[in-house]
Amino acid sequence: MRKKIVAGNWKMNKNLSEGLSLIESIKAGLANGQGAGVEVIVAPSYVTLTEAVKAAAGSAVKISAQNCHQEENGAYTGEISTGMIQAIGVEYVIIGHSERRQYFNESSASIAKKINASLAKGLKPIYCNGEVKEEREAGKHFEVVQRQMNDELFHLSAEEVKKVVIAYEPVWAIGTGLTASPDQAQEIHAFIRKLLSDKYSAAVAEEISILYGGSCKPDNAVEIFGKKDVDGGLIGGAALKAEDFLALVASF
Ligand code: PGA
Repeated sequence: MRKKIVAGNWKMNKNLSEGLSLIESIKAGLANGQGAGVEVIVAPSYVTLTEAVKAAAGSAVKISAQNCHQEENGAYTGEISTGMIQAIGVEYVIIGHSERRQYFNESSASIAKKINASLAKGLKPIYCNGEVKEEREAGKHFEVVQRQMNDELFHLSAEEVKKVVIAYEPVWAIGTGLTASPDQAQEIHAFIRKLLSDKYSAAVAEEISILYGGSCKPDNAVEIFGKKDVDGGLIGGAALKAEDFLALVASF
């Protein structure tokens, strides 16, 4: 069965003490009964991960990294391997975020390798895809997402792909205040699920959570999360305040 998931991508925000206090506030909200039945994930910066895992231990909060390197180790100054992330008890890793693609030149080939490296270490990838504004305006969003999934995801076996969470994030909606309408989100989520079903099987497609991301806020989440093929959200800006994040967790 598809899990309902709300994941907060903190990006390059929150130092160690700010991050830990945000985790404490989220834990307190969840302990009050908010978000029962929802998988709640936060993705702090690398330098906060070790302490974040300790702070979240025994609570409903799961920890994700925001990126990883595809090689196991070696001369890759400034990079972090999936083995290092796994060794400190992190469960998830975001892969292929549009900011990584845009500012750090991540290619489909490296994204595919990062997914493999994560699965090899038992990490669950949160794999992001989505079209840019010009592609949406040209009506190419289905084509773009299909190409991304072919090049980056569909080399996996059915058993492997079931461990992946997909986040559809239209790039024109990230951090812009523009959001896909609930119908636009549903349309492309259903398309993604159909691609999964055609490639693997309907049963496999039914086990994979597909999250929406892009200016998702407490005031638009209920409608978006209410759509049949939307299993939750990958949240940027609104994940930085406990109150907003908890409201999102309670938006199903
Ligand atoms: P946003 O970011 O919610 O600030 O638009 C979403 C994301 O980048 O995952």
